Amino acid sequence: MSIKLTWYGHATLGMKVGEHQLLIDPFFTGNPAASTTADKVQADFILVSHGHGDHVGDAVAIARRTGAMVISNAEIAGWFEKQGIEKAHGQHLGGGFMYPFGYLKLTLALHGSALPDGSNGGNPAGFLLTAEGKKVYLAGDTGLFGDMKLIGEEGLDLAVLPIGDNYTMGPDDALRATKMLQAKNVIPIHYNTFDLLKQDADAWAKRVEAETKSKVHILKPGESFSL
Ligand code: NI
Ligand code: MN
Repeated sequence: MSIKLTWYGHATLGMKVGEHQLLIDPFFTGNPAASTTADKVQADFILVSHGHGDHVGDAVAIARRTGAMVISNAEIAGWFEKQGIEKAHGQHLGGGFMYPFGYLKLTLALHGSALPDGSNGGNPAGFLLTAEGKKVYLAGDTGLFGDMKLIGEEGLDLAVLPIGDNYTMGPDDALRATKMLQAKNVIPIHYNTFDLLKQDADAWAKRVEAETKSKVHILKPGESFSL
């Protein structure tokens, strides 16, 4: 039993947790960095961090095809129900729930969350997963915030952080984030999707590994990392 994370490009992740297949922020259609397509991926659970189009992405179509349960904040879960998705579970920031795959807590994220049709997407979130004896923090789209220190106190095996700048933390703030989070492993995402998010992940990894004890794993879209 283990956790296997696959980066599909931008902020789209797959996570095999034990026998459960999770899909996070499934943006394939219109994603120039996507390593696969929405009709090819499997999902038992779809996690949506916030309402923006590059995170809601193909979630409705994938949930319809696979019958996966959509997990998000209460406003976004309600929006999925309005799209005809029967299995949607709403949580809110700071609240956790024990799913068949593990305990999932919604964490603070500093960002926006309007849905693609202009509906109110509530507050944006990150995810803290406790499963398979591991703790994984998916920051979502966020700027740097001091309470990352509190999240780090949980003892993280892996943190997945945006480094693209402009819409989220850039490399400098993501380095400061790694110092607060003190995760054993770090994976950067939300960069190199478009020219606007161009970053040198290898250079960032060198800085992180010089200044912290975290090990950085740079993935190419389609590549995986196992805990
Ligand atoms: Ni966003
Ligand atoms: Mn985004």
